[in-house]
Amino acid sequence: MDKIIENIPAHVGIIMDGNGRWATARGKKRSFGHKVGSENVERIAEHAFNSGVKTLSLFAFSSENWSRPKEEVDELMRLLNVYLKKFIGKIKKNDVRIRVMGDFSVLSDSVKNSIKKATEATKDNTFGTINIALNYGGRQEIVKAVKEIIEDGEDVSVESISRHLYTADLGEPDLIIRTGGELRISNFMLFQSAYSELYFTDVLWPDFNEEEFDKALLSFSKRKRRFGGV
Ligand code: FPP
Repeated sequence: MDKIIENIPAHVGIIMDGNGRWATARGKKRSFGHKVGSENVERIAEHAFNSGVKTLSLFAFSSENWSRPKEEVDELMRLLNVYLKKFIGKIKKNDVRIRVMGDFSVLSDSVKNSIKKATEATKDNTFGTINIALNYGGRQEIVKAVKEIIEDGEDVSVESISRHLYTADLGEPDLIIRTGGELRISNFMLFQSAYSELYFTDVLWPDFNEEEFDKALLSFSKRKRRFGGV
């Protein structure tokens, strides 16, 4: 029988690292790792929502990822586009809502269009929310929020900044997982992660399966969250 894990985090963020190394180790192009990585998103999302997670925030493409070789950037954009389009076809079946956060201004019209269609078509779905960070940077998000606050003539405060983040209605991640062995946050949800529990694993993203996700949930279930108190 499956072990019952208590205290499931409502919002989980994932830094999906290790696609490139996974592919290289198999003598394949890095892009192949991204393809297998994108297929893994579906497997982990389904498992997470079935476990009781309500929101999954996934770091798919950072503001800094444009410095990668053009071929790799193009392939990542293509995969994201395919993923979003595929989602539109499955809306009724899986009841999952798609959200995308980041600076869309430099994305291609095709990707922008897919984002619009996928978010619009799934907006009333309630089983779970996949929040994809695309051309996203945590610092840039804070700067954007503060600029908007100043433009609106509001007071700059923790509360007003929270309201101007992409995640205003999604709340803060209870748990952030990073696969692939690096021990850093890499500009992901900087403001929102103030009190997130962190879980790092050496497992590369394409190998991060349901069992590995459960290890992260189990680790979270044993943490005592004090939010700065005692
Ligand atoms: C890090 O691996 C991963 C990325 C930069 C992109 C993550 C993207 C996906 C999993 C595919 C598309 C996503 C969705 C939501 C469909 P890396 O290339 O930095 O790996 P490395 O550290 O081994 O080089």
